[in-house]
Amino acid sequence: IGFVADAAIVEHTFRVGNLTLTRLCEERVVTAVNDQMPGPTIYVNEGDTLVVHAINESPTNMTIHWHGVYQRLSAWADGPNMVTQCSVRPGNNYTYRFNVTGQEGTLWWHAHFSLLRVTVYGALIIRPRGGAAALPFSPPDQEANILLGEWWNGNPIDVLNAAYVSGSAPNVSDAFTINGQPGDLYNCSKKHTYKLEVVSGKTYWLRIINAAVNGQFFFKVAGHNFTVVAVDATYTKPYETDVVVIAPGQTVDALMVANAAPGNYYMAARPYISAGPEGPPVDLSTTTGIVKYASVNSSSAPVMPALPGLYDTPTAHRFYTNLTALVRPGDPTVPLDVDEKMFVTIGSGIVPCSPPQFLCNKTTGSASASMNNVSFVFPPTTPFLVAHYNNLSIYKTDFPDNPPVFFDFTNPAVNTDPALRSLRNTVQDIRLKKVKYNATVEIVLQNTAIEGAENHPIHLHSFNFFVLAQGFGNYNATAAVSSFNLVDPQVRNTIAVPAGGWAVIRFVANNPGVWFMHCHFDIHLALGLGTAFWVENGNTPDSILPPPPPDYPAC
Ligand code: C2O
Repeated sequence: IGFVADAAIVEHTFRVGNLTLTRLCEERVVTAVNDQMPGPTIYVNEGDTLVVHAINESPTNMTIHWHGVYQRLSAWADGPNMVTQCSVRPGNNYTYRFNVTGQEGTLWWHAHFSLLRVTVYGALIIRPRGGAAALPFSPPDQEANILLGEWWNGNPIDVLNAAYVSGSAPNVSDAFTINGQPGDLYNCSKKHTYKLEVVSGKTYWLRIINAAVNGQFFFKVAGHNFTVVAVDATYTKPYETDVVVIAPGQTVDALMVANAAPGNYYMAARPYISAGPEGPPVDLSTTTGIVKYASVNSSSAPVMPALPGLYDTPTAHRFYTNLTALVRPGDPTVPLDVDEKMFVTIGSGIVPCSPPQFLCNKTTGSASASMNNVSFVFPPTTPFLVAHYNNLSIYKTDFPDNPPVFFDFTNPAVNTDPALRSLRNTVQDIRLKKVKYNATVEIVLQNTAIEGAENHPIHLHSFNFFVLAQGFGNYNATAAVSSFNLVDPQVRNTIAVPAGGWAVIRFVANNPGVWFMHCHFDIHLALGLGTAFWVENGNTPDSILPPPPPDYPAC
């Protein structure tokens, strides 16, 4: 584990291009960075400036997002297509330049255009400026990135586009992967299964990243326990567990001591299907890697861990709610005065099939996803951030603070009674939420008004938020407020909102720009499950969005 003390400029070139890979017995051409999938790991020290020259040699439009990076005064580098930038077209380049200041830990980067991130993703590791001595736990002997992902037999962008045309649901993945490899349980995958060689008695720092587009995971290593020390690049109080639960967009830093009898042990991940068996189609398979003790013969059969059941919500909820922050001197504390209170329903509704939508039924319309009955659509020509910078009033900034109609979310008839459903009046629209610079925003995410009540990983760009409380059923303010953790709540950039329940998050909007908030199941984003915060400029020079870089892509 290496550390460097001085602030530096860390420069990388990302060539985004075609790469031929063989998985599941077949050869495919995918889009990848620098001929690697997962792409290159970026290491920086807190306070460094990261400069990535993205060169698009691929046949598709692309952008890169730096998931979890604050992007303080550098919104131009955030990356979501049509939110902060136009995509980089084939043959074009864009240099992402930003400071990585005030945060450290395990983050990642991924494409933010259509479903391109299925193959365009990698780890972003931010080390403490003070070196290993600045870690709030004893420095482990070795670290290993564990990127959980998906493999699709088809080109994911083509799959999504075809679903728009046909009106049917897009396919799901054909395998889950650990560091790009499906692992032993899939056809033709044994030879390339990811292996972590360990030495008895040493401690391993597993930087686990869920880069999948449609799977929350249970992750275990047979015969070993974990001490969770961080999530989403924020330190937690050490939490002992034999299973890690991780939603798309989240990261978990888990320490693992090689203290089992020398042998071979599977590490394995399989999905947590929060919606239950009646939910939407998902890949149900298990991906594996191998923890191999250096002293043993590699041919002995690895031991398989007993993974939680696919529908084990109690285990998922235990992990997701038991974490608390390790609050150190100087860390931000929970703001107690709230300027903007929002109640946001994660909902579904019917919208017209035209323009072409997937999940289209020609007589009833197309299923959509929404927040407060607004199904998000991307702007056609001008990214939101360009409108922000130029003070253009071309977008509505009246995203509702409450749903237009209140439901008893525990009443199953809300999901099945057409009369109740029609009350939802879901509209496809652009409605941003405008907030003042430095406003404290509290959001109740109520996740029950959608068929199957699936657990949705809601990700907020630019801001970490405090997770004050989570629960099941209807949100009841009186009961919930007394349960708020205002002392050491976990801090995240992606919250897995309980299936059939709610979560309360709070953050300070201390960065001017336009910041996406959306479900990190990418199919749900395509269905409209998102909105964006338009954070106004402040009054001081260090609270005003600077001009775009000279090579900022035109649409
Ligand atoms: Cu990890 Cu908007 O994304």
